[in-house]
Formats: sequence, C-alpha cells, structure tokens
Amino acid sequence: MNANAATTITTGQRDQAAKRQPPKKVNKSDIQPRKMDFEFDPSMPRYWFDNDQFKTMLLTALSCTFPEGERFFVRSVRHFQKNLTDPLLREQVKGFIGQEAHDGNEHDAFNAFMESKGVPTGKVDAYVKDGLKFMAKWLSPERQLAKTCALEHFTAMLAEMILENPEFIEGMDERMVPLWLWHAVEESEHKSVAFDVYRDQVDSYWVRTSEMAFTTVEFIGFTILHYNQLRAEMDDPTDWKSVRQGLNWLVGKPGWLRKLGKSYLAYYKRDFHPSKRDSAHLRQQGLEKLSRLMKRPELLS
Ligand SMILES: [Fe+2]
Ligand SMILES: [Fe+2]
Repeated sequence: MNANAATTITTGQRDQAAKRQPPKKVNKSDIQPRKMDFEFDPSMPRYWFDNDQFKTMLLTALSCTFPEGERFFVRSVRHFQKNLTDPLLREQVKGFIGQEAHDGNEHDAFNAFMESKGVPTGKVDAYVKDGLKFMAKWLSPERQLAKTCALEHFTAMLAEMILENPEFIEGMDERMVPLWLWHAVEESEHKSVAFDVYRDQVDSYWVRTSEMAFTTVEFIGFTILHYNQLRAEMDDPTDWKSVRQGLNWLVGKPGWLRKLGKSYLAYYKRDFHPSKRDSAHLRQQGLEKLSRLMKRPELLS
C-alpha cells in the first residue's frame, strides 16, 4: 500500500469525522441543531418496539406526521419572525427552525425505512401534507401559530415522558432508541420558542386555549386514522392481543397517556408557560445516554 492510499479519506469518513467534532454554534442561543444522519439497519425487525405491532405502529403513525407537521410549525413561526425585536428570542427562533428542519429530515429517513418494511408511510405523509395545506388556507396566521404551540405542548409532554421514564421505551430495539431519544431532547429544548413568539406577537388567551381544544380532538382523531391507514395496507393480520395490551399500556396500567392529564390541563391556565417545568436535568440524562449509545462523546459538549 502506498502512502497516498493509506491517507486517502473518503467522503463518508470525512462526514463521520466532521460529526465527531464539537458542534459549531449556528446561533447565539442554547438551542442548537445536532447533525445525526441516522441510518437504519435493514436487519431490524418490522416491529422494532418490543416486537409489538401496536406500539411500533403507534410510533410510526406519529412519525408519519412529523416531517410535514414540523415544516408547518416552521412556516407558522417564520410568518412572525421579522416582527420580533427581542434579540434572544430571534436567536432561539433560528435554533427552533434548525432543529425542526433536522427532525423532519431524520423522520423522513425513518419513514422510508418503515416503507421498506412494507408499511405505507408515504401515503400517510402525502395525506398529512394535503391536510396541512388545507389548514394553512383556512386558518389565520395567529391560529396557525396557536396550533403550533398546542402541538409543541404535545410533543414536549411526550418527549419529557420518554426522558423521565426510560421504562417507556423498554424493549425497543437498541438501534432505534437514538432516534427517539435525540428527538425527545430537542423537543424539550425548544419547547418554549413558538410559545414565546405567540406571546410576543398574538397573546390571546382565547385563541390559544380554543386552538388547543380543537387540536386535541384532531391529534387523537388523526393518530387513530393514520394508524388504521397504515395497517389497512399491510400484509399481516391484526394482533388483537397487542392492541388490547397497548390500549391498557396507554390508558390503564401504567397508563402513559393518563399520566399526562395534569400537564395537559396546565396549558389552559392563564399563566401557563412551558418553561415552568424545568427539564434541564432530564435532557442532560437523555444526552448522556444518547452519546453512550452512539459512541459520540461530542454530543455532550
Ligand atoms: Fe421536532
Ligand atoms: Fe418541536
């Protein structure tokens, strides 16, 4: 082997090396997007969450809404971006947009992986895209931003539940854990940004809470619909035992959804603010686990 061959660095290796550098700050706030470029091992089973049909398909149904949903969030915040005068909030908005753009791309990669396993995620993604186009046409920019705040509250609640209760993802294939852990950390990190933009630019209690009520019905209804849209075109029979156990897991024992009731209702208080729940320690724990699992110590810097 000659010296040149020994020192040749491929693009892939250069990308890997770049990822291992401490991340460059891309704005002057604590909200920084992380470069992940997840690749999903094709040998992973179709039901990577505890070999369980219900749990896997529930998270997949949610993931189908993320790429287009997060692009909707970005557009709704961008609409007001130019009017912001608070320098810190302006920087946090840049961080929010960067994180959501990355989140959408990584979930596109995950959705493509599930498609390769015979799960029709592309169809649901297209359906979500049309639905959000419809919303953008009929809702005012203020209502679109309020909807974003409502959905950001949902994602923050789910994210912090994952970070606080590692047993929630017990049984998940270890190769899939980083995607959910990383997204949970970033959702928790930027949970106040859309809300602060809303307070600065709209600040109507009625619009915020009424939009939360509508969005709750839509969130539950569409999650059930997308789950069924996916299952309707799959080639295996419904595992009813998994459905029964899964519903119990959500609303019975341990009842993960039921446990979110208090944080959900807090959103209707006049003085609600997402940062009232300080979750820095949960994010730190999540990042430590993520950096261990991915062997990427720079994620902690
Ligand atoms: Fe996100
Ligand atoms: Fe988010």
